[in-house]
Amino acid sequence: MNDPRDVVAAKRDGRSLPPADVRAFVEGYTAGDVSDALAAAFLMACLLRGLDDEETLALTTAMVGSGETLRFSGADLPTVDKHSTGGVADGVTLVFAPLAAALGLSVAKLSGRGLGHTGGTLDKLESIPGVRTDLSPEDIRRQVDDVGCAVAAQSPTLVPADGALYALRDATATVPSIPLIAASVMSKKLAIETDLILLDVKTGSGAFMKTLDDARALAERCLALAAGWGRAASAAVTDMSQPLGDAVGNALDIAETVAVLRGDSVGRLREAALLFAARAMEHTRGAGHEEALAQAEAAIGSGDALERFRRMIEAQGGDPHVVDDPAGVLPTAPVREPLLADRTGVLAAVDAEAIGLASVGLGAGRRRKGDPIDPAVGIVVHPKIGDRLEAGTPIGEVHARDRDAAAEAGRRVLAAMDIADGAVAPPPLIHVWM
Ligand code: URA
Repeated sequence: MNDPRDVVAAKRDGRSLPPADVRAFVEGYTAGDVSDALAAAFLMACLLRGLDDEETLALTTAMVGSGETLRFSGADLPTVDKHSTGGVADGVTLVFAPLAAALGLSVAKLSGRGLGHTGGTLDKLESIPGVRTDLSPEDIRRQVDDVGCAVAAQSPTLVPADGALYALRDATATVPSIPLIAASVMSKKLAIETDLILLDVKTGSGAFMKTLDDARALAERCLALAAGWGRAASAAVTDMSQPLGDAVGNALDIAETVAVLRGDSVGRLREAALLFAARAMEHTRGAGHEEALAQAEAAIGSGDALERFRRMIEAQGGDPHVVDDPAGVLPTAPVREPLLADRTGVLAAVDAEAIGLASVGLGAGRRRKGDPIDPAVGIVVHPKIGDRLEAGTPIGEVHARDRDAAAEAGRRVLAAMDIADGAVAPPPLIHVWM
């Protein structure tokens, strides 16, 4: 590659890029020789013009090659990785990782930060005082051997190109692109060699892929990348037409994770985590579906999954008492305003992206690259599609820095909910396994 502007111009004009150019561009950006401005132009050109399979593979491979790769040679337990393409109140990973560890699997996982209107597992974890996510490959290996699970960030040694491009995409409206998401997700999965990759590809109002067809296309692209690398993978297209859990924030999500792991919270978040854990058991241990699901339920019921979460938090430098007393350990916002239903009827549809953005507006997500986030603020909203609401009764709570911010977020949440008169069927949780 002589001049990186030529690569951007070629994509801008709709031409296919030779793999060597894609690789050189990513290497140049990671080395600091390509500016953020040019990289942002590149991302926008990719979003608008698309990338074919060969270009996507080249981008993914270059991103993996920007750091080290981690192998679990000699480990005697099956290793599993799981990744979501991003959603609202999507805390599946935080339940899945300790749950799968309690089932005798090893979970080694590189996660992401909040992106656009979606929350990020790393931001949520770091809301626990002391937690570190910048684990070295050696830390990850040791922790997985000791505890059974580790959730870490891209780092200067692991997929640094994704760390940089991900933050730039968040800041430049270049997130919702099938090849860019596939490359970002899969670079993190391919950098750590596990026996199975599980993908949770979201579809609906709170997902980057709004339609089932687009979500399927993203799942296919990710599975093709896994196949190209000779890695076993399975993907579910799952519902994101409403927040999955109830908590949309960071510390609030951790409190919900703890409640699910304690067995105190039932609902779609718990169900999704159980189904992914069962799928992992089916693939790696040859278990039947019902048997695997029963084992996953038992691992929550016995407290084993909660104990793994405690040990994971402690191993990553966090305060393990978060599992005993989340409210006493997690940061809290100074203002808590109840959210009251403004109409009577049945919840028919939810603009989950708008709820995610209302939470970002409170400070739970970033507006610009590198912005700090406020771990304490966010929204708790309980009703799910098909539930009946009575005007004036509480349906959740807004956690904010001040009353004005709370009132604004409350308005945005109520505006995001469609209330109907007749009965409404809840959407399926999993549309299809691929
Ligand atoms: N998750 C990722 O890791 N990357 C994306 O681009 C979207 C979701």
